[in-house]
Amino acid sequence: MSAIPFAYDVRFKAQFDLSNQEYSLSGTLRPQSLNELASCLALLRDSINRVRGVFYVNVRRLSQMNNLAFHAFARVLLDASRDRPDLQFVIVTSSVVGWTTEKFGRLSRIQPAIKVQEYDANFYPGQSFLEEGGFIPVLRTQTKMTWRHERDILPRHGMRPGIYMADICCGIGDFAALVQREFTPARIVALDHSRSSLAYARRVASEFKISGIEYVYGDASEMLLEDNQFDLVTCRHSLQIFDRPALILKEMYRICKPGGRVYITNEKISQCLGEPRGESIQWTYNELSKLFTHFNMDLELGPKSRHYLMDAGFDDIRAESIMVTNLDGDPQDFADMIHAWENTFAGEMSQKRGDDPEFIEQFRKGFQDHIFAALHPKGYAGWPIWIASGRKPL
Ligand SMILES: C[S@@+](CC[C@H](N)C(=O)[O-])C[C@H]1O[C@@H](n2cnc3c(N)ncnc32)[C@H](O)[C@@H]1O
Repeated sequence: MSAIPFAYDVRFKAQFDLSNQEYSLSGTLRPQSLNELASCLALLRDSINRVRGVFYVNVRRLSQMNNLAFHAFARVLLDASRDRPDLQFVIVTSSVVGWTTEKFGRLSRIQPAIKVQEYDANFYPGQSFLEEGGFIPVLRTQTKMTWRHERDILPRHGMRPGIYMADICCGIGDFAALVQREFTPARIVALDHSRSSLAYARRVASEFKISGIEYVYGDASEMLLEDNQFDLVTCRHSLQIFDRPALILKEMYRICKPGGRVYITNEKISQCLGEPRGESIQWTYNELSKLFTHFNMDLELGPKSRHYLMDAGFDDIRAESIMVTNLDGDPQDFADMIHAWENTFAGEMSQKRGDDPEFIEQFRKGFQDHIFAALHPKGYAGWPIWIASGRKPL
């Protein structure tokens, strides 16, 4: 890799990566005088001289920038865009540091050769279903079902009172709230990229007088959290819906303390089962797996968890699987969960793929048969989940 770390102090870093033609700025850039920026600006000018075609400026991890710095960088970029009409400038911002899109957007209004791209406006294929609130009933019913198992399982994977933990892709925050009550960690951060889910999480926490959970808006594949902070980093049912799971694992590894653990849960959705009406149920879950594949999500990831953890550099990997069933508690809870799945998967998702009405009818039928099996006095209905954790080497 041709990254040349150039200007670096504890507050900010500037570097250039020639292979991606990308200059990136991260951290807090609040100089009192232009001298403090001299090396960053020199690197910027030098980087521009070395590229052809498109030049990227990545400010996705730039948490603060004062006006002095902004104007100095803006001047170099505006001058360069005039001197190099052959070049296109793309400034890559992120909604996680929301001011960047607005602030750098001013440059493209002055100079059309400078474009601003908010990298996470549309950054993974299932984003619209997962982040816009329709998914909330699915998450609520799922955690209710899995908690009965995970409460007993978590201590085998590093959960204990007094730890620092982070729940990444926390959804509506119900897992964090349950952990807070049951295991009393000393610190708990819950991060997600869905504003509606986080708003829901904060509302529930305040209604139920649960305090101490830090809900954070962020991108799991590029977090603003610092290195080596947490004893336990969890990520449930989410590596499977992001099209680049290894990126999230890499970040989880980074924020985990050496000797701490990363805990993940995932499904293999085609293995959902039930009796009676097993065949129809099987057909629907095979189709459900294909539906997720259509949106670049791997709902078959569960048994691949060990592989992912090993590739990410973890050791002491522990893996187990559970079958959540209609017999775990009130069978109606299981039925409610499948009902929420039917609404979302055979509703919005199936329509978005453009499925025809006959397909949707048969697709719905399998979910309804799963509910039938769950509520049948002699029936059995199951949802298998793969759980794995790995230790960050000391
Ligand atoms: C299937 S839900 C699981 C939520 C929660 N962990 C649970 O088990 O209930 C996936 C979550 O991942 C979040 N997500 C997906 N990609 C993300 C990313 N790059 N950064 C942060 N959150 C992300 C979505 O907003 C959604 O809340």
